[in-house]
Amino acid sequence: MSDLNLETERLLLRPLVETDIDICTALYTSPDVMRFIRAPKTNEKVIEEMPHICRRGGNGQLGVWCVHDRSNGEKIGTAILLPLPINETDIEWLKLQEDRFPSGEIQIGYMFKKEHWGQGYATEACIRLLRFAFENTQLMEVVAVIDKDNIASRTVLTKAGLAFENGRRAYGIEDVPSFRIKKKDWLAQD
Ligand SMILES: CC(C)(COP(=O)(O)OP(=O)(O)OC[C@H]1O[C@@H](n2cnc3c(N)ncnc32)[C@H](O)[C@@H]1OP(=O)(O)O)[C@@H](O)C(=O)NCCC(=O)NCCS
Repeated sequence: MSDLNLETERLLLRPLVETDIDICTALYTSPDVMRFIRAPKTNEKVIEEMPHICRRGGNGQLGVWCVHDRSNGEKIGTAILLPLPINETDIEWLKLQEDRFPSGEIQIGYMFKKEHWGQGYATEACIRLLRFAFENTQLMEVVAVIDKDNIASRTVLTKAGLAFENGRRAYGIEDVPSFRIKKKDWLAQD
């Protein structure tokens, strides 16, 4: 199996584990970080969900990665390759299958602590995770969905090469702005 530890110039992405409760509570309980995603969780809820959040599928190639600043080792965010929920009752981790890729679409995503926004980290992490997806996994395309007002995330996705595709159904909501990149188009990039 390919190495799941992914390096960039400034970042290290490695599979999230249960002791990463610190970065998960910092992100999921923050109203600023969660503004365009869903209501912030409580500390207790994050602790309860931690075993699920750490679940991996596709022989380890799908799941959540913890993102470190390589200069000092600090945990500054997370990035994901996970099944895209279509209906309200779908939950990303429930669609994971340990030893295979699920049949639906796989989405890319990222969250960073607010003090680390605006330094290009999300774009750097997204570009690296896409390279992993297309060079090391069987994925032929990757999708993403955003809140219509999440301009920063829209910019990240566009800079990483995903194309805007109009609204689609996701998370039980109609007309969610969506993005996609196919492996053939990723390979054709400079
Ligand atoms: C979205 C998020 C990950 C972006 O992280 P980041 O490291 O700041 O992103 P980057 O620095 O790589 O790029 C952000 C880009 O958006 C631009 N941007 C940010 N806020 C903006 C705004 N309000 N209006 C216009 N552009 C904006 C930045 O200028 C930058 O573009 P540039 O490099 O061309 O200058 C970060 O804001 C975050 O963690 N948000 C909360 C979680 C979240 O919403 N995740 C995405 C869910 S779909």
